Amino acid sequence: MARNQNRFLQVLLGFCLASAAWAVQAQAVDVAAAEQLLEASKCGKCHSVDKQKDGPAYKKTAAKYKGKADGEAKLFTHLTTAPMVEIDGVKEEHTKVKSKDEAAIKNLTRYILSR
Ligand code: HEC
Repeated sequence: MARNQNRFLQVLLGFCLASAAWAVQAQAVDVAAAEQLLEASKCGKCHSVDKQKDGPAYKKTAAKYKGKADGEAKLFTHLTTAPMVEIDGVKEEHTKVKSKDEAAIKNLTRYILSR
């Protein structure tokens, strides 16, 4: 009986460690890949990490969505659907991210949210 219980605890512990590792991995940001995608999509024309340009600084966006569960999803939509934005009183379509790779786009949303 005691042996079985030990085995059970071992399996349980292994499961917890594995899921913790997975959770950490799921949140990790590949900074180099994110910056490359920003570069390729020419986002730097209107955004920077900490300066307001035509668009808000990524830090400002991160602060706006801080602690909101749907932040990542909102940014994903923002970057893939070209919503209308206003620049100096002129409406135009927001630039779409130059990628169809969902994982790469999600990585970019996490990059922005973690500035
Ligand atoms: C021509 C200028 C321009 C370019 C290029 C541009 N943006 Fe924007 N972006 C804006 C403006 C203006 C807003 C503000 C929209 C608003 O608040 O209504 C904005 C908003 C945002 C936001 C905040 C969205 C939110 O929900 O608060 C993010 C994040 C963002 N842009 C990321 C990007 C990324 C990533 C790229 C490259 C794929 C990009 N932008 C390219 C002008 C631009």
